[in-house]
Formats: sequence, C-alpha cells, structure tokens
Amino acid sequence: MSDKKILILYGTETGNSELLAMDAENLAKELDFEVTVNGMDEITLSDMQDAGNVLIVCSTWGDGEQPDNAIDLYESLEGSDDGSMSGVGFAVLALGDTAFDLFCEAGIQWDNTLENKGGNRLNERIDCDVDYEDEAEEWLEETIGIFNKKWE
Ligand SMILES: Cc1cc2nc3c(=O)[nH]c(=O)nc-3n(C[C@H](O)[C@H](O)[C@H](O)COP(=O)(O)O)c2cc1C
Repeated sequence: MSDKKILILYGTETGNSELLAMDAENLAKELDFEVTVNGMDEITLSDMQDAGNVLIVCSTWGDGEQPDNAIDLYESLEGSDDGSMSGVGFAVLALGDTAFDLFCEAGIQWDNTLENKGGNRLNERIDCDVDYEDEAEEWLEETIGIFNKKWE
C-alpha cells in the first residue's frame, strides 16, 4: 500500500495536547509517514475522511466538555451520516485529570463516536491523568507502530 499518510489532530486549551501531537509527529516521521498536524479547528470532517488514518489527542474542559477548538469538529462528526468514518483507522489519546468527575470525557466521546460512525479503532484509547508524559509517550510510540503495520 502506498500513500503512507497520517493526520494528527489535537483538541486543546492550554497546549498539552498540541505538544503531544508534535511528539507523535516526530515519531511518525521516523517511520516515513507523510504527517499532517492540525488543531481541530483547522480542518473539516472531509479532511479526516480523506486522511484515512487519524490520531487524536484531546483534553477535557469545563465539566466533561470538549476543549474550545474541538467543539465544531466534534459536533460535525456527531451530526454526520452513519458510516461517515468508514475506512478511517483511528486511535485516541485522552488527556484529563482524575480530580474531575467526568475524567477524560471528551476523548471518550471522540473514541466512541468515531467507532459509531464506522471508523476502525486501531488501538485502545488511553486516558491520561495529570502526570501523563511517560505513559503518553509509550502509547504514542506503540500506536504509530500499529498504524505503520498497514504498510509492513
Ligand atoms: C477549568 C478546567 C476544567 C477541566 N475539566 C476537566 C474535566 O471535566 N475532566 C477531565 O478529565 N479533566 C479536566 N481538566 C483537566 C485538563 O483536561 C488537563 O489539564 C489537560 O492536561 C489539559 O490539556 P490541554 O492543555 O491540551 O487543554 C480541566 C482543567 C481545567 C483547568
């Protein structure tokens, strides 16, 4: 299979998810992916469909809500037709804080809705607490490796 592309999306308010998305970008480049990294307010649903492979890093804000830059894209996914994500491989890294009742809720919503719309979950979601660096890095490395298996 040619066309070794991955779209890395971040939903963030204070930049933690963006930094992890940049780490993921470096890992994917090491495996010769053509990588696009975008904030969730920089793309449309059709960009996700076209990408075919989507890695999501998303924090949770408010009381279990999507971060500001994720709201429109998430609503557009929710409102899309059944099967809109058919053929799209995805994996979700959720950032949050166990001090909140709805721990990592926004990432959980992405993970569930992408599956409900026909996407293909390539790795189990990881829900990260405030001390997330090591386990997030480990998960990103594993997950980029799983995406890469399509071309091995
Ligand atoms: C005002 C506020 C509300 C938050 N609400 C939640 C929440 O409901 N659930 C959760 O798991 N984490 C919550 N968090 C924690 C953030 O998701 C966490 O700090 C995350 O690392 C932020 O990532 P970001 O910089 O990419 O936005 C909240 C943090 C703040 C400051």
